[in-house]
Amino acid sequence: MNQVKLINGVELPQIGLGTWQITDRSQMVEVVSNAYDVGYRLFDTAAAYSNEIALSKAITEKGIAREAYILSDKVWNTSRGYRAVQEACHKSLKKFKTDYFDLYLIHWPASMKLYPDWEEINEDTWRGMEQLYKDGLAKAIGVCNFKIHHLESLKKTAEIMPMVDQVELHPGLNQNELLEYCKVNDIVVEASSPLGNGQILNNENLQMIAENKKKTVAQVCLRWGLQKGSILIPKTTNVGRMQENFDIFNFSLDKKEMDAIDKISYCGGIGIDSDEVEEFG
Ligand code: A2P
Repeated sequence: MNQVKLINGVELPQIGLGTWQITDRSQMVEVVSNAYDVGYRLFDTAAAYSNEIALSKAITEKGIAREAYILSDKVWNTSRGYRAVQEACHKSLKKFKTDYFDLYLIHWPASMKLYPDWEEINEDTWRGMEQLYKDGLAKAIGVCNFKIHHLESLKKTAEIMPMVDQVELHPGLNQNELLEYCKVNDIVVEASSPLGNGQILNNENLQMIAENKKKTVAQVCLRWGLQKGSILIPKTTNVGRMQENFDIFNFSLDKKEMDAIDKISYCGGIGIDSDEVEEFG
């Protein structure tokens, strides 16, 4: 399993299991058990997914020692600010009966459409994240859905810059500009919805490449993301697809194939713009 090293030396597996939309407790037990057996060690959740307790119980039921898995969680928008973010983190840690997250992320930047003082809000929340890191409650800290201007704004006051930016990234949304910025600034990009939420799998260009490679479209999408250096957290509840998504280390895409996938015009996915969004604040 490939590992990605963050700026502070923490290493994360390049493939993890996304748990968004998995809320059923008995299903979670089966999902975590199967994922662990397949080889997944990174579990990505969020306070907003309403599945922290289900995930926690599933991990306990599987009997996985704390140091044997990587736990990533996110603070929700209702807990912005220096104090609130720390309280939220403590609350989530309690649900997992653990005293640290391997990675703790801000779920969304404050939207400039809703908040004229979005920069101050993000700065203040980030100060709380830095405190959590200094206190050892998060081994690494980062953000989600931050665009370049959000990161540049944080730079003005941050003592420690985000180590990870988790964003929607998949063929049809290549995020090349952000990837380049993050490379220069030592931020690892983590791809949420690396399969475009399952909506890009019937794309003809991808199907052609997959046929040539004798791989599935999902594997081609993930391999493309892997070669871009991003961490991938595909979500599936199906053990066969877990295996399929994990089995991407024995082939590679050449430059022509990478470029062709880069050129796929916008398609699939979640498509929430962190500047435009209103309902998420
Ligand atoms: P399922 O859970 O039924 O497998 P993303 O990670 O981009 O959000 O995509 C998740 C969606 O893609 C889910 O609907 C999931 O459905 C589906 N999916 C995950 N892996 C595969 C795969 N290898 N082949 C087809 N669909 C997949």
